[in-house]
Amino acid sequence: MQHWIFGYGSLIWRVDFPYHEREKAAIVGWSRRFWQGSHDHRGTPDAPGRVLTLIPEHDARCVGMAYLVDEDVFEHLDHREKNGYERVDVHIRLAGRDVPGVTYIGAEGNFAYLGPAPLADIAAQIIRSQGPSGHNIDYLLELDSALATLGVTEPHVRSLVELARG
Ligand code: BEZ
Repeated sequence: MQHWIFGYGSLIWRVDFPYHEREKAAIVGWSRRFWQGSHDHRGTPDAPGRVLTLIPEHDARCVGMAYLVDEDVFEHLDHREKNGYERVDVHIRLAGRDVPGVTYIGAEGNFAYLGPAPLADIAAQIIRSQGPSGHNIDYLLELDSALATLGVTEPHVRSLVELARG
């Protein structure tokens, strides 16, 4: 069986899985925020980095990338995104049609959830953090560049980039 997966963070630019189709896409009612801790990719258990999760927000629209994948891709992604994320069913808006699909969310209260903080504090944590997948700042800059390619400008992300660049 095939499934659509919606990617709003590293799934936009770090595509280490096979797929049949890929399309710019959006989901409604969610906003991306750097509110999830990373103990395994961009930080460590003692010094977690900050990565994205989705926060429910009425009427918000989160633009990303959707992939049509075979079922076995979940095995790989469930392992890659195991740090507090769960798969959640969503309606994905593609060009001209909606499809059912899934996305990964670090829900409030999961063991790695950090929640909101002043943007300057989030930027400082991103600047000082690194983990097995590299520097946290590179995650932020890759995201910013991927969003620019998609034609998306998001104040939360842009402000963090400005703060992190000093
Ligand atoms: C994503 O890029 O969609 C994603 C972000 C965080 C965890 C899993 C996936």
